[in-house]
Amino acid sequence: MKPKNATILWLALGLLALAPCIYQYMCLQHTSLNPLKQRGNSYGWHRNVSILLWHWPFNRPYSLQGDVCLNMYSIPHCHITDNRSCFDQADVVVFHHHELKRASQKLPLHLHRPPAQKWVWLSLEPPAVNKNLSRYNHLFNWTMSYRQDADIFMPYGRMIPRRTNQSFVIPWNRSCLASWVVSNYNRHHQRSQVYHNLRKHIPIKVYGSANRRPLAKRALLPTIARCHFYLAFENSISRDYITEKLWRNAFQAGTVPVVLGPPRSNYETFVPRDSFIHVDDFSSTKELASFLKRLAANRTHYESYFKWHEEYAVHVPSDWRERLCHICKYYTELPPFNVYHDLQGWAEQ
Ligand SMILES: *[C@@H]1O[C@H](CO)[C@@H](O)[C@H](O)[C@H]1NC(C)=O
Ligand SMILES: *[C@@H]1O[C@H](CO)[C@@H](O)[C@H](O)[C@H]1NC(C)=O
Ligand SMILES: *[C@@H]1O[C@H](CO)[C@@H](O)[C@H](O)[C@H]1NC(C)=O
Ligand SMILES: *[C@@H]1O[C@H](CO)[C@@H](O)[C@H](O)[C@H]1NC(C)=O
Ligand SMILES: *[C@@H]1O[C@H](CO)[C@@H](O)[C@H](O)[C@H]1NC(C)=O
Ligand SMILES: *[C@@H]1O[C@H](CO)[C@@H](O)[C@H](O)[C@H]1NC(C)=O
Ligand SMILES: *[C@@H]1O[C@H](CO)[C@@H](O)[C@H](O)[C@H]1NC(C)=O
Repeated sequence: MKPKNATILWLALGLLALAPCIYQYMCLQHTSLNPLKQRGNSYGWHRNVSILLWHWPFNRPYSLQGDVCLNMYSIPHCHITDNRSCFDQADVVVFHHHELKRASQKLPLHLHRPPAQKWVWLSLEPPAVNKNLSRYNHLFNWTMSYRQDADIFMPYGRMIPRRTNQSFVIPWNRSCLASWVVSNYNRHHQRSQVYHNLRKHIPIKVYGSANRRPLAKRALLPTIARCHFYLAFENSISRDYITEKLWRNAFQAGTVPVVLGPPRSNYETFVPRDSFIHVDDFSSTKELASFLKRLAANRTHYESYFKWHEEYAVHVPSDWRERLCHICKYYTELPPFNVYHDLQGWAEQ
């Protein structure tokens, strides 16, 4: 063999031997942690958790450049990738149900699953939308949902302690009584019936594509803020299903929510009891309407619905990256061995 060929051969063999390392490096490249930021880790060793997102929810990708979980959410040792070549290295693989359901994405059933790898079924939709899950039985190890009994509980929003020096001014000069933003109108929804009964007694400003008055994202909260009350009516009534209609539209706009959804006791596991008005608190919509009118005219009483602002602020996850990084926060507490043999039964509960 000529010396030149031998060199090439050795080079090739060398590369081949290094391949797993290069591969590992590419998959875990986001792990290059800034040593300064690792301080505070007293025992100096942490398992890195790597999460593979198989496809982006609703086909809307976000950048995963750099150590996203550490830089954006201060969650260390947590690496997210959407590179499917990293399947073998992933501790967790996350599948968003919407795309599986529409068959625009498929589960990688042909790949060999590393024995400790967890498959996560992710959906923030209520049971009425996620029907017919039996074909996903025996496949997933963990669930991730707005439900409190999911392995990874991912609410649409939550109350966090307010920093003491943050101030909140209660807006008082409002120009309307109540508003409702609705994009998906269905007259058979319970909420539509309540709305129609309510508007016989009080004026309600209705926005959204259903009413051909769509609001730009920028205009949403300022518009809602003009009214005393916001109708945070869920389109599907199920346990724990409390969406951004409450967290963002009502609370973040700085108005008082009138909620329709699961029972009051369920809401109270998420938010203080004096932060909202529940439709079920009244025996008729007429009674509800007259209560709202009286409340809007009584500043002391109305302001009592804002008392929680002294202690809490509302946090709404910014995007899917934040939700994924949160898996790492719970990772060590989650069941190491688990299979959802009856995902369908679980989802319907
Ligand atoms: C995905 O990972 C593979 C293997 O580590 C690497 O070769 C490839 O360049 C990566 N793709 C992207 C888009 O980063
Ligand atoms: C975690 O990743 C960082 C950066 O890649 C690495 O320095 C560290 O050794 C890893 N930790 C473990 C326990 O593998
Ligand atoms: C449920 O899925 C099966 C096949 O996977 C299908 O035959 C059936 O029609 C579906 N039922 C509903 C209610 O969508
Ligand atoms: C509140 O305190 C934090 C740190 O203690 C500071 O960064 C922030 O600017 C303060 N905010 C106000 C409104 O004073
Ligand atoms: C309330 O009054 C202030 C000052 O008078 C004004 O700047 C603000 O736009 C008013 N807000 C509403 C919702 O009318
Ligand atoms: C206003 O509300 C307060 C507290 O709920 C109540 O004590 C007061 O009597 C009310 N005022 C009027 C004029 O209804
Ligand atoms: C995850 O679920 C799969 C599919 O049922 C199962 O074979 C595997 O043992 C489970 N893994 C763990 C770690 O629970």
